[in-house]
Amino acid sequence: EASLPCTFVIFGATGNLATNKLLPALYHLEAAARLSESLSIIAFSRRPWNDDEWRNHMREVLAEKIKGAPGTPVFERFVARFRYQQGDLNDVASYQALADRLPPAEACSSTVFYLAIKPSEFGAVIHNLEAVGLNKPRGLNRVVIEKPFGEDIESARMLNQLLHEHFDEEQVFRIDHFLGKETVQNLLVFRFANTLIEPLWNRNFIDHVQITVAESIGIEKRADYYDRAGALRDMLQNHLMQLLTVVAMEPPPALEADALHDEKVKVLRSIRPIAKRAVHAHAVRAQYARGMIDGANVPGYQQEEKVEPNSITETFVAAKFYIDNWRWRGVPFYLRTGKRMQRQTSMIALRFRHPPQQLFRETPLESIDPNWILLSIQPDESMRMEIHVKQPGLDMDTRLMQMNASFLKTDEQTLDAYETLLLDVIEGDRSLFLRFDEVEWAWRVVDPILKNWTVEREYIPTYPAGSWGPAEANRLFDSDDQTWRNEL
Ligand code: BG6
Repeated sequence: EASLPCTFVIFGATGNLATNKLLPALYHLEAAARLSESLSIIAFSRRPWNDDEWRNHMREVLAEKIKGAPGTPVFERFVARFRYQQGDLNDVASYQALADRLPPAEACSSTVFYLAIKPSEFGAVIHNLEAVGLNKPRGLNRVVIEKPFGEDIESARMLNQLLHEHFDEEQVFRIDHFLGKETVQNLLVFRFANTLIEPLWNRNFIDHVQITVAESIGIEKRADYYDRAGALRDMLQNHLMQLLTVVAMEPPPALEADALHDEKVKVLRSIRPIAKRAVHAHAVRAQYARGMIDGANVPGYQQEEKVEPNSITETFVAAKFYIDNWRWRGVPFYLRTGKRMQRQTSMIALRFRHPPQQLFRETPLESIDPNWILLSIQPDESMRMEIHVKQPGLDMDTRLMQMNASFLKTDEQTLDAYETLLLDVIEGDRSLFLRFDEVEWAWRVVDPILKNWTVEREYIPTYPAGSWGPAEANRLFDSDDQTWRNEL
């Protein structure tokens, strides 16, 4: 198709994100015949390789990621789309060399530039793209910016200003891949297509909300990025905040990009700012120490390759927010995320209030867990509702039952978040990408925590790898009957 991009450039092609997410996602799009025949992909990186050496690299790294693929005709067709551009992100000559390899603007409608690099490098790339005229054709050439967008609110504003000097807003795709996850999109359907759910989805019925993104992996080989970022910037400011907005937002008037962004921004703006002196009561950070995962010993964060000695970077963060609007006033939202936790589990859990009256003396009120709605994002995608039923027998005892609405049928495959979003980039659909005010307000929400942690640098609690995080995380709860939910 004439309007589809003909070149897709990946900056940071040998990096972790490209290897683990982008290349596999592009391959799967290839296998599903979703990539147009004329699309070529340029891998940009520092290593002194030629096209063939890059292709061998791909065969090697993808052999682990997509088992059985290398060697197949589909895989070879995929590999053949790639060319390699050796270059330095800070050197304008590298961009000229890149520009020389792109088809002339008359022959090709557009190019996508994917910045799969560290946030500290975004600025240089944006400058250099403009310096060699690659921000044009305006409106058509696209730039995809990974999260975190900036390192704090000030740098995010500066980055955005820089982008707007060189690119039009329609050219900018601020990605948060959690928005591409099936369960997250399903949440909109679950909430707004079911009369059963929406009337309960508010402070009259819901006691609190928990959002957990637990990972069992460590920081892999990303210390040069991660040690500077930490969990608050890497996960909470973006992925968890986005989940919070999708849980909390009002129904938008239409499923259109701007209508959705408007509702999400309203939620972020309604979050009660955390006062400086209240940061301790609202946020907990911690770092993993050595421990065991799946029966294997794993090193602590401080022992990871290239981490600064005595680094106090957090690999775990838990935080509490209140949304002061009519729907949510008084309902705490507890967010938590960490590396090297017991296992990979991402879920949104809504706990309902206790029933007002206790009829069942055999099962005292306190021993009955109230109803929960559990939306699992990873590893499986499902929705569950917990309700009480009577235990068969003479006594009026209750037991808990899960209504499990796994929305996937057995023969269905979901698209990985990056597959969905890369396709959107190629097709020019920006609805699942962030508008700047969302990013800005999310920074504003976490800003007091960030500032406090930057100043207080002496001490960080630890948690053993393979646990559910530090005991300190329990002190965020407003009431004694609230505890972290780890299991579905
Ligand atoms: C990325 C973070 O954005 O998300 C990583 O930088 C994290 O630290 C990853 O591991 C988790 O995403 P997913 O989709 O693999 O759960």
